[in-house]
Amino acid sequence: MVVASVLSLKGGVGKTTVALGLASAAVHRGVRTVLVDLDPQANASATLAPEHDPSLPVGRRKRQSRAEASRAGAPSAGSPKSESSRAESSTAQTVGGTASGATAAGGKTSGAEGSRAAASGRKAADGRTTRRPGDEPGAGGTGKAADSGAARGAGRKGADAADSDAAGDAGWWQGQPGAPTAETVLATVADVLASPKRGVVADALLTTSWGPELRLLAGSEHVEAHNHPDPGSKRLSRLATALSKLPDEPELVLIDCPPSLGQLTRSALVASDRAVLVTEPSLYAVTGVQRALEAVQAERTAHRPTLQPLGVVINRVRPRSTEHDFRLAELRDLFGPLVLRPVLPDRSAVQQAQGAAVPIHEWPTPGAREIAGMFDALLDRLLRSGKRR
Ligand SMILES: Nc1ncnc2c1ncn2[C@@H]1O[C@H](COP(=O)(O)OP(=O)(O)OP(=O)(O)O)[C@@H](O)[C@H]1O
Ligand SMILES: [Mg+2]
Repeated sequence: MVVASVLSLKGGVGKTTVALGLASAAVHRGVRTVLVDLDPQANASATLAPEHDPSLPVGRRKRQSRAEASRAGAPSAGSPKSESSRAESSTAQTVGGTASGATAAGGKTSGAEGSRAAASGRKAADGRTTRRPGDEPGAGGTGKAADSGAARGAGRKGADAADSDAAGDAGWWQGQPGAPTAETVLATVADVLASPKRGVVADALLTTSWGPELRLLAGSEHVEAHNHPDPGSKRLSRLATALSKLPDEPELVLIDCPPSLGQLTRSALVASDRAVLVTEPSLYAVTGVQRALEAVQAERTAHRPTLQPLGVVINRVRPRSTEHDFRLAELRDLFGPLVLRPVLPDRSAVQQAQGAAVPIHEWPTPGAREIAGMFDALLDRLLRSGKRR
């Protein structure tokens, strides 16, 4: 298992985009992957499991759901009754959150939410995401989501686990101890950091709408409570402990970090073998990368001897921008081979695919294909470096 953190000190430079791009490349290649969403904004979770609600309170939903589940008992797999109760359960769970399934079921979805609902709905309906540029945000999708996967909680592990025809599809990680059913409400990464036990880790794992190869350790806005500015070693090692308890050990773990150097990013580094630094070619890029590299070095020395920087991904590069050319040259001068090739261009396909909750490898435009190929190259590099550990 190779564990890689994707980090930067600055917000909005493309950490989530790079984590999702690498995940897309991994799914495309059949590499069994877990993406850990450590950012309280939970953007990666919104893309990968649109019906997951990161605002639900910590702990409470888990205890309630377990009690409820044991009172109610599990429904029989695939029966019409279990289908409808799944839809109700999903609707109840998503009130107030991204809620694509719920809003779609209510017929009120619009824009990106509808689009996401449609994406995950189609995935659940036929086992593959099949979005096309005509399905862009605003193009609707409400009806499809209402009668298919999004409305019945397709992103949840339990939804697929209880679904007899989906079980083979998701086979490699089904049937683990502590696996939730569609009727139980799951834990999030905030619960995992509070208590990194095997059962909690299993509860926090969701299926994604991208395919059975990719699981998500679900994000939560409450993870911010674990972002102490000066944490001790015990706190810092909790994520590493949790990752050692992942059911069906994946080949790759990608950690999408928040834009700060508190406990969350540091615990990601303490759990990682590789650090992928992300920056834009802008004025403060050099100092930002320098500080991130120092943080990597500090955790390597103090806690994680196997941790190494994979390198710096330069994102949103605009060709023919003299400012970008200048900053690129500056970064290459200072960081030499640590600057990863290829650099990633600014392409609208990135935002379109994210808005539609679709892997960049499935977005059928020339711009998307170009970026997808670049993520393939970065994934190669990451996996090769993992073998040399
Ligand atoms: N290469 C690219 N081309 C076009 N748009 C991009 C590219 N990379 C990122 N973006 C867009 O820029 C915005 C910020 O990217 P992203 O969310 O990945 O940054 P981040 O570093 O994760 O942000 P945060 O610090 O808030 O977590 C998003 O809307 C994303 O779609
Ligand atoms: Mg992000």
